[in-house]
Amino acid sequence: MTVVRADAVAIEHGAYLLRQGGLVAFPTETVYGLGADASSSEAVHRIFKAKGRPADHPLIVHIASADQLSDWALRIPDAARLLAAHFWPGPLAMILQKRPDVPMAVTGGQPTVGLRVPKHPVALRLLQQFGGGIAAPSANRFCRVSPTRAAHVEEELGDAVDLILDGGPCDIGVESTIVDLSGGPVRMLRPGRITRAQIEALLQIEVAPPLGAHANDVRAPGMLEVHYAPTTHTLLVGYDRLNDMVEELLAQQKRIGLLSWRGTVSVDGRYHRVNMPKQAQAYAQKLYAALRDLDAMRLERILVEAPPEGDGWDAVNDRLRKASATIVR
Ligand code: TXA
Ligand code: MG
Repeated sequence: MTVVRADAVAIEHGAYLLRQGGLVAFPTETVYGLGADASSSEAVHRIFKAKGRPADHPLIVHIASADQLSDWALRIPDAARLLAAHFWPGPLAMILQKRPDVPMAVTGGQPTVGLRVPKHPVALRLLQQFGGGIAAPSANRFCRVSPTRAAHVEEELGDAVDLILDGGPCDIGVESTIVDLSGGPVRMLRPGRITRAQIEALLQIEVAPPLGAHANDVRAPGMLEVHYAPTTHTLLVGYDRLNDMVEELLAQQKRIGLLSWRGTVSVDGRYHRVNMPKQAQAYAQKLYAALRDLDAMRLERILVEAPPEGDGWDAVNDRLRKASATIVR
């Protein structure tokens, strides 16, 4: 496996490897993706193997433009066209009814397909050169934190990938917003940078919130209770409980890390602390790298100070809940 700077030659090589059925990791504006030719079941199987991901978890197919929607989806509703016109290229994935020729390997056996046009210039150029759809989940091992830098992909997947295109750190830092438009009520499946309020404002309809973690028909791995998780036991703690929790764990001689938001916890110096940005989008951009850094310190606990609630914070709060084995309010 090689990590290369994503210049024009490297991207062309990436497209070539995809045509050969290879695995190419590439940057998107959200997180790094692990790409394979979406029209080849064999190539797609390699993704599942590399990630250690169960075969019934569907992948998002990345396309170069909304013009390719009908190559993958059937009965595309006007709402999907409107969302595509407004938010693509960008951090929005749509679930639509799939065409019969879309491999079941891509959709995890579901009759629907997830589609997205990414905004990152490297991703777009790779798509244009390749010509077809690129199936790409986040380039991490199953249930781990998504990579937002090329080095993270290397740590996660090593030799399982044929090529890692390094396009620098990802801008957005959390995965795309997913909206289900496959029939039935329009529903958010995963919050992201594009908020439910933005989608509702555009479509002039109410959009249903994500189903809870316990809904039994949910296959999206992002809906499992612990997902996007560090290996270190992580606790999401409300500000009012934070001092007590820190004191309690320090009294137990635990080595702890703190992802701090307000930055006003008093017992300084006795634990590792990372101060996170006050603003939601900047926080999201740093989140996975911060969790990864704390995780690499082999601490016994990671405490995360719960940031505010509210539409702009939905994606961050969703990922923090999923990263945490324990939630203390
Ligand atoms: O930002 C992103 O979307 C990144 C970059 C690489 O584009 N990709 C990403 O892929 O996060 P992944 O596989 O880690 O998460 C995709 C989510 C999963 O939760 C999956 O279950 C859901 O999309 N999904 C894909 N197709 C689906 C379908 N047909 N029905 C329901 N959920 C689907
Ligand atoms: Mg993922």
